Amino acid sequence: MIIAPSVLNANFLNLEADIKATEKGGANWIHLDIMDGSFVPNISFGPGIAQQIRSCTKLPLDCHLMINNPELHIEAFARAGVQYITVHAEATNHLDRLLNQIKELGCKAGVAINPATPLSAITEVLGIADMVLIMSVNPGFGGQSLIPYCLEKIRNLRSAKPNLQIEIDGGVNLETFALAREAGVNIFVIGSAIFSAKNIEEETKKFIQF
Ligand code: DX5
Ligand code: ZN
Repeated sequence: MIIAPSVLNANFLNLEADIKATEKGGANWIHLDIMDGSFVPNISFGPGIAQQIRSCTKLPLDCHLMINNPELHIEAFARAGVQYITVHAEATNHLDRLLNQIKELGCKAGVAINPATPLSAITEVLGIADMVLIMSVNPGFGGQSLIPYCLEKIRNLRSAKPNLQIEIDGGVNLETFALAREAGVNIFVIGSAIFSAKNIEEETKKFIQF
């Protein structure tokens, strides 16, 4: 089980301290939500901030590109030192080539799908992707509620691919965590449930000990 706190809702005026607190609480990865204001209706941060985050933690960086034209930016994030680069099937015309390009850069390649996108959109690349990210909210903002039908999608994917790395992203908190795990998730992106908590370290521990 991998806990991957998303810094989207961290305090960017105190980002290093927030990252170190969740690391102390036992977080396994740090999830970077990259948004371009075009693929999703919000803008977050780019490779420069990813590189600064790289310098303040030893944890693997799990980079989720919610951007159009991801082909143009994967190299910059690889150079910034991230371990995983996940791209949206909806954001490219050439998903097979893009996933292979990510692997040629030395990173693990993830593919993500939005709530309304069926699993059939990624069936052909399940043998290439190192991980599948199932969005359980409509991407763009932290603090939203998990969309229940996304759990069925995870159940179907898990039963088809027992050994696949399946990541859930959006609306994961202490209530929905058990539902996600029961559906077959093994990587949990958790944003506001950790970084909006009074004690980030203690809140992280609650998920690790779940
Ligand atoms: C997409 C983002 C969020 C974030 C998690 O909008 O990817 O899902 O990571 O945020 P929470 O855990 O607050 O839903
Ligand atoms: Zn994400």
